[in-house]
Amino acid sequence: MTDVSYLPGYYPFMAPARMRYVATLHGIRPPAISKGFDFLELGCGFGSTLLTLAAANPQGSFTGIDFMPVHTRHIEREVAATDLRNVRVLCADFAAMPADLPKFDFIALHGVFSWVSPELRQHVLGIIRRHLKPDGIVEVTYNCMPGWSSLLPVRTLLRHFAERAEGDSIDRVRQALTIVADMRKADIPLFHDQPLAAQLVDRLVQADLHYVAHEYLNEHWTVFHAADVLAMFAGIGLGHAGRLPYHHNHWELCAKPQFARQFQGADLSTLETLKDHHANAMFRWDLFSPRPREPWTPRQRAEAADDLFFRTASPQASLPHTVTYGGVTAGIAGPPHDRMLKVMGQASWSLPMLLDEPQLSQFTPESLIEAVDAGMAMGLFRVDGGSVIDPIPPVETILASRLSVPLPFNRRGLKRPDLVNEQVGLASLTTGAGHEIGDLHAVILDELISGGTRGLEDRIADRLARTDKHLREHTTGRPITNPVELSKAVHAICADFFTTVLPELVRQGIVVWDRDQAVGKAL
Ligand SMILES: C[S@@+](CC[C@H](N)C(=O)[O-])C[C@H]1O[C@@H](n2cnc3c(N)ncnc32)[C@H](O)[C@@H]1O
Repeated sequence: MTDVSYLPGYYPFMAPARMRYVATLHGIRPPAISKGFDFLELGCGFGSTLLTLAAANPQGSFTGIDFMPVHTRHIEREVAATDLRNVRVLCADFAAMPADLPKFDFIALHGVFSWVSPELRQHVLGIIRRHLKPDGIVEVTYNCMPGWSSLLPVRTLLRHFAERAEGDSIDRVRQALTIVADMRKADIPLFHDQPLAAQLVDRLVQADLHYVAHEYLNEHWTVFHAADVLAMFAGIGLGHAGRLPYHHNHWELCAKPQFARQFQGADLSTLETLKDHHANAMFRWDLFSPRPREPWTPRQRAEAADDLFFRTASPQASLPHTVTYGGVTAGIAGPPHDRMLKVMGQASWSLPMLLDEPQLSQFTPESLIEAVDAGMAMGLFRVDGGSVIDPIPPVETILASRLSVPLPFNRRGLKRPDLVNEQVGLASLTTGAGHEIGDLHAVILDELISGGTRGLEDRIADRLARTDKHLREHTTGRPITNPVELSKAVHAICADFFTTVLPELVRQGIVVWDRDQAVGKAL
C-alpha cells in the first residue's frame, strides 16, 4: 500500500518503560537506559510515536525507517521545527537497509509484521537478528487467531469490491465499504450469523479511511497463531519476553478459573495460543529478547530495573478495585494493597524504595512485588521511566502563576489540533513517555499558555466559531450553537480540564508553573 499515507498516532505501549517493565515480569533483564540508548522503529509511518518518545528521552537516539517519502519527509519537517537532535529518519525498504545501521536496544514494529510479504518478513527478521543488541528488546504487533476467524470475510469482500472500484486506495475502499455496509444493513446471512463481523463493519464505517485502506486492501495480510510467531523469533535466537497489555502476562487473568487446570503445564507457545483462544484475541503486542529468563529473588527483581517508577493510575483510585478481562473478573482488596496505596499517595515509587519503606516492613518483599504486579495488570498502577513527585500545589495556585510548556515539541503539538477529534500526544521528560490529551483540552492549554485565564472561556468559544467546529450535545450529538448553551458547555469542559487534566500535566512536567510570577486571579 503505497499510494495513500497512513495516519498519525501515538502508541503508549512503545514507551521503553513499559517494555522494560514487562521484560522484568518474566525475569528478563531489560536494557539500561539512563545513560543513553538506541531505539529503532521499522515502518514508523508519520512518526508520531517515534518523535514523542524522542522528545521525552533526550538521552536516547531514535531511528525511524519507512519507505514512503510522504512519511519520512513529514518526520524530517517535524524534527527541524521542534529542534529534536536525537532523531534520524531513513527512507528505505526493509529489503535494502543502509550499511551503516548500528545495533539497537529497542526495535519496535507496529502494524508491519502481518502486512508484508513472507519474503519481506524474512528481511525484517534478518534486520532484527543483525541489529538487536545482546540485551535488546523487540516489540512486534500482528493480527492473530482466532479473533479473525469470523472477520476474515469482511476483508475478502472489501478487497473484492475495491479491486473493481476506481480511483486511489481511499476512493476504492470508500466504494467497497459502502457496498459492504449495505450488505450489513440488509442483514445478509453472513452478518446475521456472525455478529462480530457485523460489529466490525459498523466500526469501519466510522473509522479513518487511511486506516481501513492500509489494514484491508494491502496485498499481503497474514493472520498468525501466536505459536507460529514465537517459532519465527526462536529461529533468530529470541525468546518470548511478555506481552502488552499487562494483564496478558498473568494467565490467571486470561482464563476462567474452572479452566485453569487445562492451561497448567502447557509450554509457553501453547499457553499463549490457548490464552488467545479463550479471549478470542485478534491482535497481539509481543516482546522478544535474546536474554534468558532468570529465576530472580524479589530483591534481584527489584534491582533489575530500579529506575522504573510505579504510581496509582488515577487520583480517584480506591479499593476494592475490580476488572473484567475477556470474561475473567478479578479484583484487588485488603493488605498489602490498602497500606501500599496509602503510603504511595500520588507519588511514584521504585520497587527497591517500596521494599525498603519502614511503613511497609510488615509485608514480605514477595507480597509487595506481587501487589505491584497485580496493580499493574489490573490498571490500578502505571509505570514510568522517571519519578513523579507529589504533592503539586492546588490548581488555583497553578492557575494564578505564569504557566509554560517548555518543550518545543509540545508547543508545536498544541498548535496543530483544531478540534478534529484526535488525541494530542505530548512528551514528558519526567516520565520518559508520551501523555495524550483530547484535542479540545489541547486548545484550552494552548489558550491558557498564550493568554492566561482572563477571558479564557470567551477565547475558546471564539476559536470554536473561527474554526467552524462545534461542541456537540452528549445525548443527541447535535452541534451546540445557542450562545448561552455554548458558554455553559465551554465552562464545563474548562472545569474538567482544570480538575483532571492540568494537574497531571504539571505532575509530568509537561506544563511548568512559576511560583514567583503570579499573573492574575484564577477563574
Ligand atoms: C500500518 S503502517 C504503521 C505505521 C506506524 N508504525 C504506526 O503504527 O503508526 C505500516 C508502515 O510500514 C511501512 N512499510 C511497509 N512496508 C515497508 C517496507 N518494505 N519498507 C519500509 N517500510 C515499509 C509503510 O509505509 C507504513 O508506514
